[in-house]
Amino acid sequence: MEIIIAKDYDSVCELAAEILTGVVAANPDATLGLATGSTPLGVYARLVSAVSDGALSLAGCKSFNLDEYVGAGVNDAHSYAYYMRENLFGKTDIDPRNTHLPLGTAPDLAAECERYTALLAANRRDIQLLGLGSDGHIAFNEPNTPFDSHTHVAELAESTVKDNSRLFANPDDVPRYALTMGIADIMDARKILILACGANKAQAVRGMVKGEVDERMPASVLQRHADVTVILDEAAAELL
Ligand code: GLP
Repeated sequence: MEIIIAKDYDSVCELAAEILTGVVAANPDATLGLATGSTPLGVYARLVSAVSDGALSLAGCKSFNLDEYVGAGVNDAHSYAYYMRENLFGKTDIDPRNTHLPLGTAPDLAAECERYTALLAANRRDIQLLGLGSDGHIAFNEPNTPFDSHTHVAELAESTVKDNSRLFANPDDVPRYALTMGIADIMDARKILILACGANKAQAVRGMVKGEVDERMPASVLQRHADVTVILDEAAAELL
C-alpha cells in the first residue's frame, strides 16, 4: 500500500483528481470504478473543471459505481444515480450510456445482482475509487462480509445508518438496504485509490493499514491488493 498523508481535504482531492486524470490520460478508454459519499465530491468537482477547461475528456470512458440504495429510483434525490448525474456525469462529456450503477428499483434484486456481477466481470476496472466507512466498510460491504463476495443486497450496519442520516431530513427515511459490489469485485480492479478524511475515520484507517486482514474489518482486505494508493488527511492518519 502506498500511503500519502495530505494536509487537508482539498489536498486529498487534488492528489486523487491528479491520479484519476493520469489514468485517463494514459488510456482515454479507461474503465473507471466510481464511489459516492461526501469524500469524493471535491475530486469530482476537479474532474468537472478539468473537462470544462479542455484538460480532460471522459468521452471514451466507461464507469461502474459501487452501490445504490434499495428502493431508490434514478430520479430520487437521495439515490446514488442522482448524485452521480449531479456531481459528475451531467457536467462532463462522459456518455451517459457508458455509466453504470446497480438499479435500486429492480423488481428482482437477486437477478439485478447477477446482472451487475456479470457486467463487472466483463469490464475490469482500470482504477477503483473508494471511500471508507467509519466502521471500515468499503462500498456497502459491512463488517463480516465474505472477502469472496460479489454484488449482493447488504443490510447497512447501525453505525452506517447513523452516519448517513445527516443527508436525510428524517432519520427514519435512511435506507437500511443497498445493492453493493462485493469485495471480490472491488479487488478485481487493476488499481485502487482509497480516500479518507476526518478523525471519525482514524480507527478504520488504522485497521485497514495496520490491522490483521480479517473480514471483521472489510478494508483490511486491501492489504492483499498489489496496487493500492491510500490518501488521507492528517486527522484520518492520526492513529497510524
Ligand atoms: C457510504 C458509501 C461508501 C462511502 C461511505 C463513506 O457508506 N456507500 O461507498 O465510502 O459512505 O462516506 P463519506 O465519504 O461520506 O464519509
